[in-house]
Amino acid sequence: MPELFPLIEKLERQRSLTEAEYQSLMEGRTEAAAAELRARAVRVRKAVYGNTVFTRGLVEISSWCKNDCLYCGIRRSNQKAQRYRLSPEDILACCREGWALGFRTFVLQGGEDPWFTDERLCPLLRQIKAEFPDCAVTLSLGERSRESYQRLYDAGADRYLLRHETADQAHYEYLHPASLSWAHRMDCLRALKEIGYQVGCGFMVGSPGQTARELAKDLKFIEEFRPAMCGIGPFIPHKDTPFGDKAAGSVELSCYLLSILRLIQPNLLLPATTALGTLDPLGREKGIQAGANVVMPNLSPVSVRKKYMLYDNKICTGEESAQCRGCLSARMAGIGYELAVDRGDPKKFESQGGVCGAAPYCAASLSSCHFEGACD
Ligand code: 5AD
Ligand code: FES
Repeated sequence: MPELFPLIEKLERQRSLTEAEYQSLMEGRTEAAAAELRARAVRVRKAVYGNTVFTRGLVEISSWCKNDCLYCGIRRSNQKAQRYRLSPEDILACCREGWALGFRTFVLQGGEDPWFTDERLCPLLRQIKAEFPDCAVTLSLGERSRESYQRLYDAGADRYLLRHETADQAHYEYLHPASLSWAHRMDCLRALKEIGYQVGCGFMVGSPGQTARELAKDLKFIEEFRPAMCGIGPFIPHKDTPFGDKAAGSVELSCYLLSILRLIQPNLLLPATTALGTLDPLGREKGIQAGANVVMPNLSPVSVRKKYMLYDNKICTGEESAQCRGCLSARMAGIGYELAVDRGDPKKFESQGGVCGAAPYCAASLSSCHFEGACD
């Protein structure tokens, strides 16, 4: 039996490994181990979510950013980046179009743009929620104060995506300017969870300086933090950044990690990301077939899409991509999955006579359950 199989068996049974064991999984990766993880992950995913793929309509609201992350194409010091910002009316128009297409979650994502104050965002959130009461709103606007997160939540935001980028402090410092701190990023994530958001964290796969050691830390962090969602995708260099000549991450390693994450947390919302689709024309399909269960088609006005260039060659930015939902729907149908017209909340497990209905797909004892007993 290949060397890693006992570890994989243990992972599925216990939903947890030590950091050293995660590192062994990373260092010993083979195609046989990947296939084994994939098969188990797809089985677990189907037990929890069936053949349904959740969708979120992604609205890229601003390419202005006050930060200077070394990997990112819209970093402040990239003079060549084209800047734009959507008005609240533009954003509402995207939501209207998205609702008609079947989206029931809107993700408002942007750089850290000081123009988007709470005073501008809160009325917009209230308007979106009033007009689309059956929809969830996700924000992905970077680090803000706890008070701001609270105000945005009170105005109707349901979810917040803030990738932790790496669970290792020294690695975080290598990827970011000194003005950003790993401890503060972690504080933000904890605050978001305490406030009551469904929180998404995540990281790039194959980012410069990342080794099996950092990835093991990421896996342990996610196992312990128990986010509702985890966004991972390969790092892709952007030519006008300090990491412009670094190697890109790999689709295979990204899929391997997706399978492991599915086994760690069976109900985790795992997107097959645009970055996967950028490195490989079938990347998103491969992500779903490795255990992912979410896709995030682009809903931004086509006129601004080329300006939200986090990395080179990003897909879904041309005229042909006006209808990403239709494209993804066909792609998913091609591999036997179906896009849901649904908010796509993480599945809560029904209790079956005192035993969690997700058993054996949930490792958590009720006391450590992600839903804090809501499934009880
Ligand atoms: N390659 C891949 N992903 C990137 N991101 C930013 N720059 C890149 C890049 N060059 C990711 C970061 C960020 C998210 C919005 O996009 O993880 O959190
Ligand atoms: Fe955007 Fe296919 S998903 S063009």
